[in-house]
Amino acid sequence: MEFSTQTTASLHQIKTAALAVGVFADGILSPAADIIDHASNGALRDVLKTEFKAKANTHLVLRNLPGVAAIRVILVGLGKQDAYNAAAHAGGEFVFANYCVGANLAEGVSTLAAIDCSNSTLRARTRATAMATGRAMYQYNLTLGKQDRPAPPKLKKISVWIARTQATEAQTGLREGQAIANGMNLTRLLGDLPPNICTPTYLGNTAKKLAKEFKSLKAEVLNTKEIEALKMGSFLSVARGSYEPPVFIVLKHTPTGAKPAQKNRKAPIVLVGKGITFDAGGISLKPAANMDEMKYDMCGAASVLGTLRAVAELDLDREVIALIPSCENLPSGRANKPGDVVTSMSGKTIEILNTDAEGRLVLCDALTYAERFKPAAVIDIATLTGACVVALGHINTGLFSKDDALAESLLQAGRDTCDTAWRMPLDDAYQEQLRSNFADIANIGGPPAGAVTAACFLSRFTDSYPWAHLDIAGTAWRSGKDKGASGRPVPLLVQYLLGQSS
Ligand code: BES
Ligand code: MN
Ligand code: ZN
Repeated sequence: MEFSTQTTASLHQIKTAALAVGVFADGILSPAADIIDHASNGALRDVLKTEFKAKANTHLVLRNLPGVAAIRVILVGLGKQDAYNAAAHAGGEFVFANYCVGANLAEGVSTLAAIDCSNSTLRARTRATAMATGRAMYQYNLTLGKQDRPAPPKLKKISVWIARTQATEAQTGLREGQAIANGMNLTRLLGDLPPNICTPTYLGNTAKKLAKEFKSLKAEVLNTKEIEALKMGSFLSVARGSYEPPVFIVLKHTPTGAKPAQKNRKAPIVLVGKGITFDAGGISLKPAANMDEMKYDMCGAASVLGTLRAVAELDLDREVIALIPSCENLPSGRANKPGDVVTSMSGKTIEILNTDAEGRLVLCDALTYAERFKPAAVIDIATLTGACVVALGHINTGLFSKDDALAESLLQAGRDTCDTAWRMPLDDAYQEQLRSNFADIANIGGPPAGAVTAACFLSRFTDSYPWAHLDIAGTAWRSGKDKGASGRPVPLLVQYLLGQSS
């Protein structure tokens, strides 16, 4: 994909296969739509009086308008003008990009980013343009039969129409958006891949491949022996029940401009991703219905890999380290059992009361491993609890942190990219639910506040650095007819990291 800017004032003279102009449901034309309307003797106002209501997420194609060089003008409905915001803009860009892909076009010009909206900057809007295009370009096809396989999209180039004075800002946004989109599409692919293909070893190979592709990245993939040497007894207890061997991935981004001995370099930011490539629940077996969706239980890991891909593509000026404990959670004669007590890398003992609460068991050892980097912040990302889906549905990611500044930065990064999170409580009073008679801590806290007690469990391993936890159980994938990974929360994470780089 190529993104560029178009800065000519005479919009009606731009030769393109498709020109997107925004119109509002109140019949109001955007500045670009107004230019096209004048050039075509009021063609736009005509259709707005009749067949096109300009509701959000709708479009109308007008071909061969008199006085307009573009072959097609795509009217993009933006909803009511007083409700227009960054999310509505992103929706409009997706409608247009999706149209271009569906119509097999090679290029198009969008004027939507030029429309002012209250809660965003031009940079954020062109970022959204590139992200929406990347989203429309994603197609899963690896395991589809030849006849079901969609033809690869022909779309090669999207140009963004803006004022000449704003070209630099627009290009910055496009570049960021493209990196985020590439990261999201890697995250989506890893999530969508079947669990017999996307194994822990496959995730490890993906990290190695990224390190080959990007100069700033270095990958280390630790095997069972090396994980044993680290005494990650909690992580290993989950992995024991499977034939597929576990891996522990360390993927480091070092800014290529940084000199090795550079003083006053900022401490790294560590991202920890839950990498359960299939969660059957273990001996505490899950019910059969929709169990296939537990292939998505590695979406935390996938989002961390996608984020590192974006960070590397942008060569972000900040050290970022990804840690991924990855294994399956299956029942077997070797699997851990309710009642088992295991010793974590931290030395804390854990009573496993439910083997299906395995995410926290693999994450706690990764959180202990993170200490060695003396990080400025550690953020873990995990499809951790069904309870988080009950609490927040599929709209907001659950955010847990005792650090108000870190929490606020993450919430803001989510708002800036329409990849929102909602802060959840983490009071010490909930810790009581994790009391065990036979170990330092139990791995479940009973039905009340299940998402909170899961976060409380993790918090017990994070004393030595600022920490936040993102529960993406409700936001990492869509169920039903359009089942598929979302690529969230890559936009939130990249936006946060952009804010932490110089
Ligand atoms: N991976 C699941 C959480 C999950 C469930 C995510 C459904 C998305 C949809 C996690 O490992 C799990 O099984 N959690 C249990 C915890 C419980 C046993 C305390 C859950 O949420 O039921
Ligand atoms: Mn589970
Ligand atoms: Zn799980």
